[in-house]
Parts: sequence; C-alpha cells; structure tokens
Amino acid sequence: MTMFLEQTDDYFGNDLEEKMAPTNEKELADRGFVVPHFNSFGLRFRDYDVESMRQEGVENFYRKNHTYQCYDFVKKMREEYGKMNKAEMDIWKCCELLDGVVDESDPDLDIPQIQHLLQTAEAIRKDYPNEDWLHLTGLIHDLGKVLLLPAFGELPQWAVVGDIFPVGCRFDESNVHYKYFKENPDYNNPAFNTKYGIYPEKCGLNNVMMSWGHDDYMYLVAKKNKTTLPSAALFIIRYHSFYALHKEGAYKHLMNDEDVENLKWVHIFNKYDLYSKSNVEIDVEKVKPYYVSLIKKYFPTEKLRW
Ligand SMILES: [Fe+2]
Ligand SMILES: [Fe+2]
Repeated sequence: MTMFLEQTDDYFGNDLEEKMAPTNEKELADRGFVVPHFNSFGLRFRDYDVESMRQEGVENFYRKNHTYQCYDFVKKMREEYGKMNKAEMDIWKCCELLDGVVDESDPDLDIPQIQHLLQTAEAIRKDYPNEDWLHLTGLIHDLGKVLLLPAFGELPQWAVVGDIFPVGCRFDESNVHYKYFKENPDYNNPAFNTKYGIYPEKCGLNNVMMSWGHDDYMYLVAKKNKTTLPSAALFIIRYHSFYALHKEGAYKHLMNDEDVENLKWVHIFNKYDLYSKSNVEIDVEKVKPYYVSLIKKYFPTEKLRW
C-alpha cells in the first residue's frame, strides 16, 4: 500500500473523542445507569487541567489534524481503505488485536481497548436489554482504531482518533481548536469555504465527506461486509466522534430526516461510551459467547474484509 502521509514522531495514544462530560445525568440515572463521578485514576472525567502536559499534546494533535484533514486527503483515504484489501479477519479477532492499544492521552482510560468495548457494550446491555443491535454497536464502534497498527498502514494519531468534522464546506467554529483550520488548504478555497460548500441543503450526512478516522473506516468495513445492523447502528459507528454535531448542534443544515432520527441514538450511545469507563473489569471469556452470537446474527460472513 502506498502511504502518502507525513509520518509523525509523536504518539499520543489519544482518544480524544469522548472529550466533554455529558450533562444529562438525570436521564442516565432514570435508565438505572449509575453515573460515576470519578474515573479509574480517582480524577473527574475529562479533567484535562490536571495535566497541562497532556493539554499541550491535545493542542498539538488538533493542530496537525486540522491542518492535514482536507477534502483531497479524505477522498484519497476513503478510496484507499474502501478497497478492503488490508486483512481478512473476524470481529472477535479484531477486538483482541486492539487489546494492545491503550489511549494514553485519554485521561479517563488506562485500560486495554477490549475492556472499553466490552464495558460500553455491557453497560448498554444492562439498560437496553432488548436492543441487541446496540450491544453489538458498543462492541465494534472503535474497531477502526486498527488503523494505528502496522498491518493497516500505521496511520498517525491525527488520521485515526479525535473529533471529526465535514470537509467540502466551511469549518464550523464550534469545532474544538478551530483556529488551526486556518492552516488547512481548504480554508481559503471558495469552493469549500461557504456554509454549504459543495453540498445541497439537507442532502443527508451520508452524502457528506467527513474527516478521516476510525469512525468512517469502521462504517465502511461494516457496510462493505454487508452487515444487517439497522441504520441507527451504522450512524452511531460513523458519527460517534462528530462532537460539533451531537454536542454543539452544528451542521444540522446538512441533515435529512433519517439523520435527525438517528442522532437520538448517538446521544444515548455517547453517554455509555464515556461513562462506562470506570466500571469494573469485564470477564472477557464469560461474555464472549453472547457477542459472538450477535456477530453471527448481524454479519453474513464470519471473516470480514478490512
Ligand atoms: Fe471512538
Ligand atoms: Fe469509544
């Protein structure tokens, strides 16, 4: 595979996606979800101030991310990874593969990814026992992070994690560290720097190109392997890091009616993605048969193309 990325020397191990504490704790409590006030280090969630060095890493991350994630870059990445010629592997194997990846700069999380996946899925399962598609969505939502691994191109952090945003239209000021978009080649391109840019009003997010990362990659993997998961599941996988939309309410002028419906599920999902992190460790072998049965139910073939 031809790599055209600038390889960076820094390795944050960031997952910057779950960046802000959701406010609606009452709604969670109503579902029986006990909102913890402290993470596994005994610190408040998303408390970046406790480590200014980490904050510096986050800024540096977004400087690169906003500078390099332009329309042409995203288009090339979607084409390259859309070929699905990197690996053949079943989903459970992929979960295990991610086990070695720890998001170092995520201040809430110092556990292997497989625990984050299972904790998210199991917390949802407890509160939404009948929505088995949502359990599986919890399990697979971050599997796109394999992009960090050598077999998948070993992409730099800024091309895998962090908040995502549309390209092809003006960058909204609600995007975190907005100032760094000024270095993006699209910033001064008149085709891309208007409210709608290249998109018609309410065209649907499916027609909008998002910055490249683990969200869009896992969406492509699920889609191309012909999953039967409902559209809400694919929407969660694809947009769970789209904080400008689901936290700030930006870019709504690009959404269609189906997006509006699906966004409700992202709001639900996001709370589990963030708050399930400090729960006790899940016994992997104990829950494995349940999740394997869900994979079988929602994916037609055991081995997926990646
Ligand atoms: Fe994620
Ligand atoms: Fe996650």
